Order: sequence, then C-alpha cells, then structure tokens
Amino acid sequence: MLNIPLADATFRDLRDYIYEKSGIFISDNKKYLIENRLSRILQEKDLKCFEDYLKIIKCCTNGNDLNRLFDAVTTNETYFYREPQQLEVFVGDIAKKLFEQKKGAKTIKIWSAACSTGEEPYTLSIMLAEKGFSPSQFEIYGSDLSEGVLSSAQKAVYNSYSIRNIPETCLKKYFAPEGQNYTLSPVIRKSVKFQKINLIDDKNVRSLRNMDVIFCRNVLIYFDVKSKQKVVSHLYDCLNPGGYLIIGSSESLHSITRAFRPNVLNKVITYQKV
Ligand SMILES: C[S@@+](CC[C@H](N)C(=O)[O-])C[C@H]1O[C@@H](n2cnc3c(N)ncnc32)[C@H](O)[C@@H]1O
Repeated sequence: MLNIPLADATFRDLRDYIYEKSGIFISDNKKYLIENRLSRILQEKDLKCFEDYLKIIKCCTNGNDLNRLFDAVTTNETYFYREPQQLEVFVGDIAKKLFEQKKGAKTIKIWSAACSTGEEPYTLSIMLAEKGFSPSQFEIYGSDLSEGVLSSAQKAVYNSYSIRNIPETCLKKYFAPEGQNYTLSPVIRKSVKFQKINLIDDKNVRSLRNMDVIFCRNVLIYFDVKSKQKVVSHLYDCLNPGGYLIIGSSESLHSITRAFRPNVLNKVITYQKV
C-alpha cells in the first residue's frame, strides 16, 4: 500500500486538530508516522487527499471518524507487570495503608487512566488478589481515549509478549492458554470496569470521582506542558484528599504542578494529594 502524500501545511492543521481534541502533541519529525498511519484510513474512505480528510474530520465528523483517528494516532504499548517496583509499592504499602485507614468499612477505589488494552488494571487486580484482598474490598476502573484498545481490554485475550513478565504461578492460576494466546480468568476480568475517558476533556474526566489511587503511567510523555498541566489538574480533582497519583517512572511532575506531596519509598516516587 502506497502512502498518500501529506503536505506540510495540512500536516500542521491535522496535528493542531489532534492536539486540540486529545492533548497529544505530534512533533514535525513525526509527520511520516501520521502519513503512514492515516493513509490507510483515507484509502478505506476512498479519499484522494488529506485535505478532504481534514474537511470531513472537522466539519461532518460523527463520533466514528474521531475514534478512528484516535485509534490511529495513539501509541498503545503496554504489558502485564510493567514497572514492577511501582506495583510492589502500591500493593505492599499504599493499598495496605488505605485498607487500614478505611478499616474494612469501605472499598478502595483505583483508576488506571489511559490503560490501553487493560494489562495495567488487570495486573493490579491480580496483585491485590495475591495479597489476599477480596474483590469486594476494591473497585478498579480502567479508561482510555481509544475505543479500539478498550474493546481488546474487555475481551482480555493476550499474546505471549503481553504476558511475558507474569510470574509463572500467577499465569497458571489466572490465565487459560488458547492456542498462541492466554485468556484471563472471569474473576479478574469482572473486577475491572472499563470506560472511554479523554483525559484532556474536563467533562469526561468528571465521570470518575473520589479515587484513592490513580495510575496514569506512560501517557504524559505524549503531551506538551500545557496538556500535562490540564490532565494532572483533572486527576488531582478526581482524587480523595490523601489519595495517590502514580505516573510512569520515566515521567515527572517537575514544572507541571506543586499541588502534590512527593513521597519516595524503595526508590519509587508517588504523589499524594495534600
Ligand atoms: C503507552 S500506553 C500506556 C498504557 C499503560 N498505562 C502502561 O503504562 O502500560 C498510552 C495510552 O494513553 C492513551 N491516551 C493518549 N492520549 C489520551 C487522552 N487524551 N486521554 C486518555 N487516554 C489517552 C492511548 O490511547 C494509549 O492507550
């Protein structure tokens, strides 16, 4: 399949539109990526040029066109037990503390924001189960901008790349091998509720409130400073006082916000709403 040429000016218009709608900033040197990923959509729609596509997207878009665009431009890399030190601090320290504070009277609410195909929230559920917590003690929410990844998350069928870091005992206990793939057990599947949330959109984000812990890992890297500030302030509003925000270990809130108190435990930084 040959790419359809994308003129610089049209690329900039398209890039600005994606930024406005999602907060994702696409730099000039990623033009080839947009050309490559969107050419397929243009061909499916029988469009000859990006200018016509831009017109459709801007003027007559139904939700499907925008979803398709988001599916194409997002990077969805994820896998089970990603950045395990952070996960250990969460189950070994934060979750324990929160359960003690609530004295079993209430559930703890955990949100995996930008969860892609679901590996992150499912990992949290498995790790909590392994620590002896029952599903009635916690609520886990998973969200993403892309409908494509959320639909995969709900199916919960994973390939060998995705499951490669899962401890052998957990793999045997919570997954059923099916050909080349692994299907997650219904108990863990049912413990996570998925919904579409665009983190840049304040109305969208307001649908989840009173969280005790928010994981928002490996997504801030796709935003510029302004979008990061907006997203992080939305997440702040969604947390209970004393709640925790956990971002990717290569990400930082430096020069984004001072609203959180950073805590360091076992070399892992978590951010607490004070
Ligand atoms: C690299 S994945 C990270 C998945 C997981 N958190 C992890 O660390 O393994 C980034 C995800 O962010 C999502 N994303 C990008 N912009 C978003 C936005 N404005 N709102 C919600 N999700 C977004 C993408 O669709 C993608 O699935």
